[in-house]
Amino acid sequence: MAASETVLRLPLGSLFSSCHLPSFSLNSTPLLSFKPSSSRKRRGLRCTNTLARGDTFQSPDCVFKGKKLQSTRCRCQRNDVEEDIRSNLLPSDGLKSDLDEMPLPVNGNLSSNGSTQSAGTNSIEDEAWDLLRQSIVYYCGSPIGTIAANDPNSTSVLNYDQVFIRDFIPSGIAFLLKGEYDIVRNFILYTLQLQSWEKTMDCHSPGQGLMPASFKVKTVPLDGDDSLTEEVLDPDFGEAAIGRVAPVDSGLWWIILLRAYGKCTGDVSVQERVDVQTGIKMILKLCLADGFDMFPTLLVTDGSCMIDRRMGIHGHPLEIQALFYSALVCAREMLTPEDGSADLIRALNNRLVALSFHIREYYWLDMKKINEIYRYQTEEYSYDAVNKFNIYPDQIPSWLVDFMPNRGGYLIGNLQPAHMDFRFFSLGNLWSIVSSLATNDQSHAILDFVEAKWAELVADMPFKICYPAMEGEEWRIITGSDPKNTPWSYHNGGSWPTLLWQLTVASIKMGRPEIAEKAVELAERRIAIDKWPEYYDTKRARFIGKQARLYQTWSIAGYLVAKLLLANPSAAKFLTSEEDSDLRNAFSCMISANPRRTRGRKKTQQPFIV
Ligand code: GLC
Repeated sequence: MAASETVLRLPLGSLFSSCHLPSFSLNSTPLLSFKPSSSRKRRGLRCTNTLARGDTFQSPDCVFKGKKLQSTRCRCQRNDVEEDIRSNLLPSDGLKSDLDEMPLPVNGNLSSNGSTQSAGTNSIEDEAWDLLRQSIVYYCGSPIGTIAANDPNSTSVLNYDQVFIRDFIPSGIAFLLKGEYDIVRNFILYTLQLQSWEKTMDCHSPGQGLMPASFKVKTVPLDGDDSLTEEVLDPDFGEAAIGRVAPVDSGLWWIILLRAYGKCTGDVSVQERVDVQTGIKMILKLCLADGFDMFPTLLVTDGSCMIDRRMGIHGHPLEIQALFYSALVCAREMLTPEDGSADLIRALNNRLVALSFHIREYYWLDMKKINEIYRYQTEEYSYDAVNKFNIYPDQIPSWLVDFMPNRGGYLIGNLQPAHMDFRFFSLGNLWSIVSSLATNDQSHAILDFVEAKWAELVADMPFKICYPAMEGEEWRIITGSDPKNTPWSYHNGGSWPTLLWQLTVASIKMGRPEIAEKAVELAERRIAIDKWPEYYDTKRARFIGKQARLYQTWSIAGYLVAKLLLANPSAAKFLTSEEDSDLRNAFSCMISANPRRTRGRKKTQQPFIV
């Protein structure tokens, strides 16, 4: 590891320093300094523009400020910065990468036959690239992310002018696949600095290791000198977000992107940095911490993922479990063995086994399983109960009885004591395929289900975020009468073009790219004409969402990733994980010990509840 890469990040509350920052423009002054803050109120990662306000930006002096950083000062040497600039300007130079085996892009995108698609041949893609580039956010002259939406006609911006961690993932992957690595590297390193930031809500600090939901670059007058301005990275950990939702998925996505960066560029020096390793461990520790929970799934509050509003997904929602599993697998691949991490790795391995068993066994739903639930005995007090969660068969919703095809199945949305959420949630199911949380058979069955239910899940625009929508009294009680989440809109059964990229990775992984091709073709009919909406409304996704932003960046990036991957399917392996033999063995041991498989159904005097 190069000396400049050796950066120590200490936990919050202790001295915190990093003199190694991502790249700066070539004309930047190669002197970075951490300056003590004179303001106790102001916070965020800071970069001082030493020229007077109104002058052209040239020379960043980077400053970290905050309550815990009062006395921290660190100077970087010229060669550190130049080293960074070099590595960012020449992303593929000298790097051993899986991409090395592939033809490199030359003024265009890679295609499966190795030829390049020259600019101008596909106007939708060209437009998408232009829009994606227009959404780039710069900090101290360096690209660090993309804003959520760039809708010039939107009357209320809310927080759509921020860089959302989850929204940046498809943007980052599009840039990686295009061979533009610096924005992804910068994003990874800057968001890592925000991870340690002190965040409070009404005097309460959420757990260390939490990654923000989003951040914003603000230009503010410099303390004590009104003629100067500085740029501040201001994170939101949910303390300003609508509903104060916790961004549980951010750290998980960050780990997944970090691994994709290493795989795509071949540059493992980023993941090997001490600060990055510390960041991974902080996220893991937060997720693996003991609590009151009985299940290996991660217990979260409502709205802690892509669905960031109240939608009855508190508890153990599938999306979080799939990302959690994926992040554990990716982290295991990246953690460098060192003294003191053995316990963490052991905990991680144990959790992987328990989590995959739990999801595959208890979340799986197909005709056979519905029939089993339909005939469940209840109130079983015993260690080897078949109906462990005491699910009353009456819970089987009427829509499901007709909806479930004979062939195919899916993982249910959530499982709690006496409660199965039978809704189909797309992201959780697709990412379970991508990460191999679902077995091979289950993964194929999920895709079979998608094909069988195309008219409902895709219809006129891919892809329904969940199915079906909640209506009437159920909507009133579960969403709290949320006017944005009315039936078949937004999170409540709306259709989100961004989900195209996850569908593409999943179908390529299972050797069934034609599913994604069909979906992309459908999207192409309208998406650019409709100005890249955030989501569509109605059962068949016929209308642009009532409150949808236009020029939504992850709709644009999701489409681009789908196109890039379909043109070059082998690149999907930067994102997928295969089940390893240890996990497979542990899983089959648990399966054979499971009472559901070994115990015969007891004769009962009680009538079945139907
Ligand atoms: C909406 C989405 C959320 C996304 C945000 C920014 O709130 O539900 O997933 O991150 O918009 O696009």
